[in-house]
Amino acid sequence: MYKQLLEKISARTSKIGIMGQGYVGLPLSVELSKKGFGITGFEVDEYKVKMINSGQSYVGDVSADDIKELVSNKQFNATADFENLSEMDVVIICVPTPLRKSKNPDVSYIIEASKSIKKTLRKGQLIILESTTYPGTTDELVLPMLEDTGLNVSVDFFLAFSPERIDPSNKKFGIKDTPKVVGGLCKKCTELAAAVYSSFTKVHKVSSTQAAEMVKLLENTFRAVNIALVNEVALMCDKLGLNVWEIIEAAATKPFGFMPFYPGPGIGGHCIPSDPHYLSWKLKTLNFYSRFIELAGELNSKMPEYVVAKVADALNSKAKALKNSKVLVFGAAYKKDIADIRESPAIDVMNLLLEKGVRVSYYDPYVPVVQNCSCRWALSSIKNLVGLNKYDVAVVVTDHTNIDYKKVLKESNIIVDARNAFKNTKSNKIVRI
Ligand SMILES: NC(=O)c1ccc[n+]([C@@H]2O[C@H](COP(=O)([O-])OP(=O)(O)OC[C@H]3O[C@@H](n4cnc5c(N)ncnc54)[C@H](O)[C@@H]3O)[C@@H](O)[C@H]2O)c1
Repeated sequence: MYKQLLEKISARTSKIGIMGQGYVGLPLSVELSKKGFGITGFEVDEYKVKMINSGQSYVGDVSADDIKELVSNKQFNATADFENLSEMDVVIICVPTPLRKSKNPDVSYIIEASKSIKKTLRKGQLIILESTTYPGTTDELVLPMLEDTGLNVSVDFFLAFSPERIDPSNKKFGIKDTPKVVGGLCKKCTELAAAVYSSFTKVHKVSSTQAAEMVKLLENTFRAVNIALVNEVALMCDKLGLNVWEIIEAAATKPFGFMPFYPGPGIGGHCIPSDPHYLSWKLKTLNFYSRFIELAGELNSKMPEYVVAKVADALNSKAKALKNSKVLVFGAAYKKDIADIRESPAIDVMNLLLEKGVRVSYYDPYVPVVQNCSCRWALSSIKNLVGLNKYDVAVVVTDHTNIDYKKVLKESNIIVDARNAFKNTKSNKIVRI
């Protein structure tokens, strides 16, 4: 069975089902279909199914032309009918793994996806989990559900974990330029999963599913902790009257032993704010308290308050108060050049300003509307940059490339720049963090 499946994968005649057609599943579907595999996207959201089947894209990094071509060549289709899962030789799970309000992992989407696979599991299938999760999920959660069918892993079916490392809007390192880490329940499981991914990128094999799960959490914890460190350094530099951006730029000239990270208004997106908590949660079950993760979370989550304090100071310098002032926030997305607002610190900044009685407006060419998570308020992006001088302060929270910063500088009264968008610009209008 192993040999047969390996041959099919190598010949790219195997059918691959990808569960979840979001920021991760859609680009993966497109890449694998381009390599010749027949791809079916299994998706619970009917809107996404319709979009794919009509050749449209809803993910910034995926071109509608690519989808159109692959769909019309019958290389790619999407469905909400999960019965067809049994026809797949390989099933890859790319469903969300959010945090609950308690900051505990919410693996309910993985459980639901596994239930669907369980219903149709047959001999000779390879199942790969890609969703970011705590070490042990594949082995302790997914495997027992699948073996409950009476089929046995490495005998009847194969199971592996391979973390997704996609970085939305990164033009330099796309899905093809980023190696995949693969760890299987058995050696055959690893080899089969490696054969799938080596169709489009380099593969690095590790010894187990737990190791592969841990790799992703190390990567994202590394980022969360280093961003927290540099955010704290920004606060230190503020006290010392130093420009943190100048310090980082100089330190980064060292060709070894230093890697630049940059301060900002806080961390956002689906990964960096939540993934480290998957790790700390797992470790708590083993009576181990991960101090770095907790501290990094605390430092990063305080950054929106720091930005608001900078706005208050800037207004104070003009003998004005926050209450009733007019503030224009640039950027609602969690990072530049994308439309994703999940966990965006821009929303925290807007929320804090609104709580202080500020009349908040925002401008984001990618995000027409925002609302805070409890739906207490909603704002629409201003349509264009006309009349910037009517705002008391402009705050750059997300430094989208397509914002006319020259105009912003010329027409704004005061600018609080949380992203160094005005690098190398000398002006007493600019307050940097
Ligand atoms: N977005 C990123 O940049 C990124 C990067 C690396 C890893 N990840 C990880 O990848 C996973 C997916 O993230 P994403 O950003 O693609 O999420 P997403 O919310 O954009 O997409 C997930 C999709 O899964 C669908 N879905 C939910 N339950 C389903 C089910 N039972 N069957 C089929 N489809 C189902 C949802 O409708 C949604 O379209 C998460 O674990 C995330 O942490 C994300």
